[in-house]
Parts: sequence; structure tokens; C-alpha cells
Amino acid sequence: MGICLSARINESPSNTGLSSKYVSSDGKDTSSTSSKASSFSAPLTPRSEGEILQSPNLKCFSFAYLKMATRNFRPDSVLGEGGFGSVFKAWIDENSLAAAKPGTGTVIAVKRLNQDGFQGHREWLAEVNYLGQLYHPHIVKLIGYCLEDEHRLLVYEFMPRGSLENHLFRRGTYFQPLSWSLRMKVALGAAKGLAFLHSAETKVIYRDFKTSNVLLDSNYNAKLSDFGLAKDGPTGDKSHVSTRVMGTYGYAAPEYLATGHLTARSDVYSFGVVLLEMLSGRRAVDKNRPSGEHNLVEWAKPYLANKRKIFRVLDNRLEGQYSMEAAFKAAALALRCLSAEAKFRPRMNEVVTALEQLQDSGECGSNPNNISSKPRIRRRSTGDTSNGRSTAAYPRPSASPLYA
Ligand SMILES: Nc1ncnc2c1ncn2[C@@H]1O[C@H](COP(=O)(O)OP(=O)(O)OP(=O)(O)O)[C@@H](O)[C@H]1O
Ligand SMILES: [Mg+2]
Repeated sequence: MGICLSARINESPSNTGLSSKYVSSDGKDTSSTSSKASSFSAPLTPRSEGEILQSPNLKCFSFAYLKMATRNFRPDSVLGEGGFGSVFKAWIDENSLAAAKPGTGTVIAVKRLNQDGFQGHREWLAEVNYLGQLYHPHIVKLIGYCLEDEHRLLVYEFMPRGSLENHLFRRGTYFQPLSWSLRMKVALGAAKGLAFLHSAETKVIYRDFKTSNVLLDSNYNAKLSDFGLAKDGPTGDKSHVSTRVMGTYGYAAPEYLATGHLTARSDVYSFGVVLLEMLSGRRAVDKNRPSGEHNLVEWAKPYLANKRKIFRVLDNRLEGQYSMEAAFKAAALALRCLSAEAKFRPRMNEVVTALEQLQDSGECGSNPNNISSKPRIRRRSTGDTSNGRSTAAYPRPSASPLYA
């Protein structure tokens, strides 16, 4: 979750009058997914702040309690930092909800808003609103929140393997490169989460799909986190929701950037960017690359469209782990998601089906939980010499806003 800061896209001046949360339209996006059966959701109707905070599924924590559980927000318990604030690891006793000794009880992640102002509160409340109502195996569980004076915190289930971003782009002994089969497993899990959000019953547009918002449990099951920018999808006969342009550089769909018109297909584009990051091991935006390679989508698209050239895009560290067929299919799927025209992008439930077929065909390796799978076929060499060789961490996406 974050605020309109750093790598985020600022509000578009041309769209500033159009940010009403329930400006809505269209009912055409009716994708569904097989994972729906195991999820719980109710039709999301607009709720007042009071109603949101009284959600029966959420616990209301006092600030003093969370301060104790995080041992006064100790710097050595920080799990990560985003635009919203820092995320701390803490332990609580499940039954009494008393703070527990580190290493005992239930592990939780506590996110603390460090920004003042209306925008921070609005995103905080949106998160409480959506995660208080949406339950799904591929959506992170919000346990509760704290709203006390100026303090705003969120309490989540702890995701032991952290974010996909760390696994793809951090170098170091803890973060070994994800294998091809694990990348496909994560892609499928995240796709199921998005498909659930877009389904007829839920109809939510996520608007902030990126690698740092895909969290991983101990078995590399992906869960979407950060619903601060999520929006109710269009209803009735309208085709889109009109919004301020918010999101993160490199992930937002071109038509959304140009018009502020938001549809479920905007999320599909962002999914295509993340799939491409998984296939290539490159960040969506990376100013440290040679000129012409800063924007991943622009650089990779011509290669993805050519079967003989897609290997130039694929991550060197995946060498020998995938079949040609699987690589073609995954690249073709990414390319469809990245179609400049939204109508040519698949719906998320089609993406789920395509990724399931890829797994069922055995083209993703036999055991997706193996960090390194046995070589299946060696691919041709690539021109990308920077992948997999550096020991330095990649920088986060560029901080410059699109709209000044
Ligand atoms: N429930 C969780 N369990 C474990 N780690 C988490 C959890 N939530 C967040 N983190 C860690 O904290 C980091 C920061 O998360 P946060 O959502 O605040 O920012 P971000 O997603 O990196 O950036 P942005 O503010 O742009 O969304 C994540 O990248 C992840 O590593
Ligand atoms: Mg996040």
C-alpha cells in the first residue's frame, strides 16, 4: 500500500475532478475463476467509514498493544518499507491476543502509516474496506487495524517469503533466483487472485499490481496485498470507471494513463508487465540499463513477437529449466496481456486457464517447489550480459512522477 509518492504516478491534472469512489459504469467484465469456490465475498456495496471500521471480520487493536507486540517498532523487526510506511514483524498470542515472546504464538505483519493527510487515510480506509470483505486463498488476510489519534496501522497475516520483488531482484544468499517452475506457480496464484477480484460477484479493479504487492507464503503461494488504490469496478451499462491516474511507473496501462478510464483490462496489462518481469528477471523500469532498455515492455515487445528472438528476453538464470514450448506460450501470454488496445487483452480467467494448461502439460517442471529444477533443454545464448551476474541489489523503480 502506498501513497502518491516516490515511484507512484501522481494524480493527473486533467482528471482531478473525477475521483469519486463510486463513479461507476459498465457491467461487462464478468470473468470468473475456478478458485472462486474456495473464496468468500459479498457484493461490495458502498459503506460509510463507520460501517467499514465495524467489520465483524476485523479486530480493532490499540496502538499501545501494537507498540508492545512490535517491541516499540524496533528497527530490527522491519520487514520492508513502502510509500505508506514501514512493515514490522511481531508475535501475538492467538487466544488472548496478548503480545507474545518472539518465536512463540502467531506471527503477524504490522504496517504503520507514516504519512499525514487525507490521501494516506483514504488509502488506509480502502484497504480496511476491501480486505475486511474479500477472502480468497490468493489475497492476503487482514487480521485487523488500529485507528487512534493520528495513528493508522494495519495487521496482516505474516507472509514468510516476503514479496516477489525481493525474490526476483534482490541479490544475496537468502534470495536465490526463483526457478522457472516457481515463477509459473507464482504467476498462476497471482492470476487467480486478480481473476477473483474481477469476477462477477466481486467486481473490483486492483489498480496496483506489481511485484512488491505479490507476497509469498512458505510454499510460494502468491497472495495479493495492498488494496489502497483498489476501486469498485463499473456497474450498469458503463464501460469504465473514471479515476485519478494513480499507480506505479511501468505498470499502468497506456489507455488508463492517457484518459484515467479504468477497467479490469488495466489490471491485465499490469499482470503482463509482472509476467514479463518474471520471464526476464528485469525490472519494469530500470534506468541503470543501457538506453533503449529502460522500459522493459518497450524493449521486450519486438522480441516477444518473434519466436526466434524471445530467448533474448528470458532470464539467463533460468537457462535449461524450461522447454521451448513453455517459453513460447508464456511469452505469447505476456504479449497478449500487453496489447496496446485493451480489447485484445485476455480476461484474467483466460490467463488463469492458460497458466494452468502450462502447468498441466508438465512444461513448468515436475515439482514447482524445487528451487532449481533439472535442465530440460539448453537455450541459445542471449545478448543480455547483466542478468544474473551482478551481486548488487537493483534499485527500486524510478521516483519521477508522470504528471508534475
Ligand atoms: N504481510 C506481510 N508479510 C511479510 N512481509 C510483508 C507483508 N506485507 C509487506 N511485507 C514486506 O514489506 C514490504 C513493504 O510493503 P509495502 O506494501 O508497505 O510497500 P511496497 O509494496 O514495497 O511499496 P508500495 O508502497 O509502492 O506499495 C513488502 O515489499 C514486503 O517485503
Ligand atoms: Mg505493497
